[in-house]
Amino acid sequence: MTQRLRIDDPALLSGDPFPFYGELRSRPGLWRDEDADLWVATRIEHVVAISRDPATFCSSRGVLPSDRQRTLTPRESVLYIDPPEHAKYRKLVQPVFAPGRLRALESRVREIVRGLLDAIEPGREVDFVPAFSVPLPLVVIAEMLGIPSADRERFKAWSDAVIEAGTRQTPENMAQAMELLGYFSEVLAIRRADPADDLISLLATGEVDGERLEEFDILMFCMSLLVAGNETTRNLVSHGVHALSTNPAELAALVADRSLVPRAVEEMLRWGTPIAGFLRTATREVEVFGARFAEGDQVLMVYAAANRDPAVFGDDAEEFRVSRDASGHVAFGFGEHFCLGAVLARMEARIAFEEILARFGRIEPAGPIERLSSNVMRGVVRLPVVLRA
Ligand code: HEM
Repeated sequence: MTQRLRIDDPALLSGDPFPFYGELRSRPGLWRDEDADLWVATRIEHVVAISRDPATFCSSRGVLPSDRQRTLTPRESVLYIDPPEHAKYRKLVQPVFAPGRLRALESRVREIVRGLLDAIEPGREVDFVPAFSVPLPLVVIAEMLGIPSADRERFKAWSDAVIEAGTRQTPENMAQAMELLGYFSEVLAIRRADPADDLISLLATGEVDGERLEEFDILMFCMSLLVAGNETTRNLVSHGVHALSTNPAELAALVADRSLVPRAVEEMLRWGTPIAGFLRTATREVEVFGARFAEGDQVLMVYAAANRDPAVFGDDAEEFRVSRDASGHVAFGFGEHFCLGAVLARMEARIAFEEILARFGRIEPAGPIERLSSNVMRGVVRLPVVLRA
C-alpha cells in the first residue's frame, strides 16, 4: 500500500485518493478494510453486480458511511427504501423529474447561469465555488420547489445546515433542519389549499393508483432533494471547471467544438465523481468476487475508483478527455436507486458550460484547489481561477 488510510477516512478525499484506489482495483477481488470493518468494491463490474442485487445487498441498513453511527427510520429517504416498496415510491415522485417538466425549466436555468456569469469579471481572480457552483443548483431547486424569493436567504442558510448535517451533525444544524421542516410544512399547507405550478404542489396533489404521498413523506422528500441535488451538482460543475483549467488542450478542443459539451459533461461526471461511494449491507451469507460476506457485513461501492477502471475506460482512464465515450460511468449509481435527478444535473451542467464557453475561451488556475474533508463527497471548497474572453 502506498498509503495506510482507512477507506472511510475523510483525509483520503481531501487529498488524492487515486493512487490508493488504483492499488485496490488491481487486486483480484473485493478488498477487506479491517479497520473500517468494510468490504471495498473498486471496479465497475463490482459496483454493477452489487447494485443489481438489492435482495442480497440492501439499502435499508444504511447508504452513507455516517449512517453506521445512527438509527435509520425506513421512510426518512427514498435512498433507504428497498424493493418492492421502492418502485412504488419512485412512481409517486417520478413526475417531479419528467423530461417535459425539466425542458420547460431550461430557459430559466439559462437565465440564472447568465446572471451568475455577469457578476464574474473577466481577467480577475475569482473563487468559482461561491461565485457560481454553490448558487446555481440552490437557486434552481428553490425555484422548482416554489420557495418565494423573499425567503431565499433563509432557505440558503437552512440548506447549508442540512447539507452540513449530512457529514457532521451538531445541535445547531439539527435545529436548523427542524426549522426547515416546519417551513416546508407551512408551504405545503398553503399549496394544498391553493396549488401553484411548482414541485411542492405536484407532490401535495399528485397520485398514483389512487394513492397520495403522506405529509411526512413529502417533507422528507423535499429534504432529500436538497441534500441529494445541491452539493453533488455543485461539485460536478467545480470538477468540470478545474478539469478544463488544468487541461488547456481539452479546453481548446471544447471551445473549438461546443457540440461536445454533453459528452464533456459525462466525462466530468466520470472524472470528478461527486459521490465517492455508497454502502450496501448483505442480507444473507454470500460469496462474491472472492469475498465471503456474513449477514450484516457492509460493502462500500467506491464509484470514484470504478470510474477510473481501465477495463472499461482504457489505459488513459486517469486522464480527462472531453471526447471520451464515458457512458459506462457509475457517478449516478446503478440499478434501482439510479439517481432520480440525473436529467436535471446533466441539464444544469450542460447549460453552465455552454454559457461559460460562449464567454470565456480561457480558464486559468489562480491558486491551489482546496478539497472537502468528507467520507462521501468528493467536494471542492475553493477553486481560484481567472476567466478570460
Ligand atoms: C452531479 C449530480 C449528482 C450526482 C453525482 C448524484 C449521485 C447520485 C447517486 C450515486 C445516487 C444513487 C444512490 C444509491 O444507489 O444508493 C443518487 C440517487 C438519488 N439522487 Fe442524485 N446525484 C446528483 C444530482 C441529483 C439531483 C440534482 C437530484 C434532485 C434534485 C438528485 C436526487 C436523487 C435522489 C432523490 C436519489 C435517490 C433515488 C433512489 O433512491 O431511488 N440527485 N444520486
